[in-house]
Amino acid sequence: MSRQMIVATTLEELGTARELLDDSLGFVPTMGYLHEGHLSLARRAREECRTVAVSIFVNPTQFGPSEDLANYPRDLERDLRLLEQEEVDLVWTPTAEMLYPPGYQTWVEVGEVGLPLEGAQRPGHFRGVTTVVTKLFNAVRPSKAYFGQKDAQQAAVIRQMTRDLNFPVEIVVCPIVREPDGLAMSSRNVYLSAEQRRAATVLHRALETAQAEYEHGERLAEALRGTMKDVLRTEPLAQVQYVSCADYETLRELEQVSGKALLSTAVFFGKTRLIDNVVLE
Ligand code: PAJ
Repeated sequence: MSRQMIVATTLEELGTARELLDDSLGFVPTMGYLHEGHLSLARRAREECRTVAVSIFVNPTQFGPSEDLANYPRDLERDLRLLEQEEVDLVWTPTAEMLYPPGYQTWVEVGEVGLPLEGAQRPGHFRGVTTVVTKLFNAVRPSKAYFGQKDAQQAAVIRQMTRDLNFPVEIVVCPIVREPDGLAMSSRNVYLSAEQRRAATVLHRALETAQAEYEHGERLAEALRGTMKDVLRTEPLAQVQYVSCADYETLRELEQVSGKALLSTAVFFGKTRLIDNVVLE
């Protein structure tokens, strides 16, 4: 483990820094504005790997035309301080011009698992994610890469891509880190007004209520979706985009829950879109 944290910007700097690191390299891709959710991934990597790399890159290709790319929160200095405290060895902060130079024209697209839910609401989103993660993997060459369960479908899409394209990297999915009142940590939570912030706890309440029903024996997916909708309806500021009870791996909507399943929801509070989920085992 090297003591001094290296900050690389260009691909060349990254390449030089990568040579100094170990074969056992844990990698955490992020878009920055780090919170405890991101840091939990870096800590897990620190525990499991001899060296740790983190990327900070607000990837333009995964944002839709009406999404928050220009306003996405950024604070690089604070991010670097936090990563130094976690004893990260290498931080890579490429620019959009470096990853997508003029004439760029190659895309990585996963099939079915990326189509419903987030894929349906955010056309092109996963194509941007899988393309950038491919580029990051190729440059960083990690032995393990760490993703959050917070973005459950993203994790499923990345697992599928890694299998399908034979990337020599192990994908590790880490639990959702929440605020004390249950709200899943997200860089986007800073957009919420005080009133919306209070209202946003309804996501976790809705998921927990349906999860409790499942634990009491409910196996009808439509009943679990109904329960989530009922709880979400109690919050007037919540504009529900979807509620889902789907197979954990394929993300196909279920009729009956038999194996591992995912309850998930996407809800708008004003212009801010929040997602959350729980796993039924
Ligand atoms: P970003 O939203 O910055 O998230 C980076 C990683 O942190 C993702 O794997 C995400 O699932 C995880 N994460 C976010 N909030 C979390 C929480 N509350 N608990 C646990 N993990 C959490 O996801 C992206 O960036 C991008 O799509 C990226 C993969 C970097 C590609 O651009």
